[in-house]
Amino acid sequence: MRHPRPGLACIIAATAVAAACTQSLPPPAATAAGQDGWLAGTVDEKFETVATQLRGFDMAMVETGYRYNELYWAAQDRNWGYAEYQAGKIRTAIESGLKRRPLRAKSAETFLTVALPAVEDAIKQRDSNLLQQQLGALRSTCNTCHEAEKVEFVHVGDPQVRPVTARAATAP
Ligand code: HEC
Repeated sequence: MRHPRPGLACIIAATAVAAACTQSLPPPAATAAGQDGWLAGTVDEKFETVATQLRGFDMAMVETGYRYNELYWAAQDRNWGYAEYQAGKIRTAIESGLKRRPLRAKSAETFLTVALPAVEDAIKQRDSNLLQQQLGALRSTCNTCHEAEKVEFVHVGDPQVRPVTARAATAP
C-alpha cells in the first residue's frame, strides 16, 4: 500500500493549529499567590479556596481511621516504635482537625486527655496486655464521640483486615 506524503495544505494547517495552541496556552504562573498567581481571586478568596481544599473534620477522620488500623496491628506485633508513631499521629490528626472545626472540641476532650494518653502510657511501659485493654477503651471513646457528634453510623470496631503496610518488624 502507498503512503502518500502529506500535502502542502496539510502542513500549513498543522502549523496553524500548533501556533494557535501555543498562543492560547501561556506558561503557568509559578506561584498561587499574587495578582497573577494561578489561584483565582483576591487574597481572601484564595484563603477560602485553600481552606475548602484542606477540608473539615472528615479528612482528619479518614486519616485517624487509617492510623487506628495501623496502631491496632502494631500492638498485635508488639512493634512498640510503630505503635508510638501512630498514636502520636492520631493526636496530630485530631488536634489539627479541631483547629478547623473547633465546635467539635468538647466531644473530643476525653479522647485526647484520657483515652489516648492511656494508650501512649501502655506503649511506653511495653505492656502488651495493658495496651490491648487501653485500645479497647480508646475505641469506645471514638464511638462516644461519634454518638455525641451525631455520626453514630460510623461505628469503630476491631479491624478485621490486616493492611499490607503493617508488618511485624519486631518479633512478638
Ligand atoms: C470529635 C470527636 C471524634 C473523635 C474523638 C473521633 N471521631 Fe471519628 N468522626 C467524628 C465526626 C464528627 C465524623 C464525621 C466527619 C464529617 O462528616 O465531617 C467522624 C467520622 C469518622 C470516620 C468516617 C470518615 C470518612 O469520611 O470516611 C471514621 C473512619 C472515623 N471517624 C474513625 C474514628 C476513629 C477510629 C476514632 C478513634 C481512634 C475516631 N473516629 C474518633 C468525630 C470523632
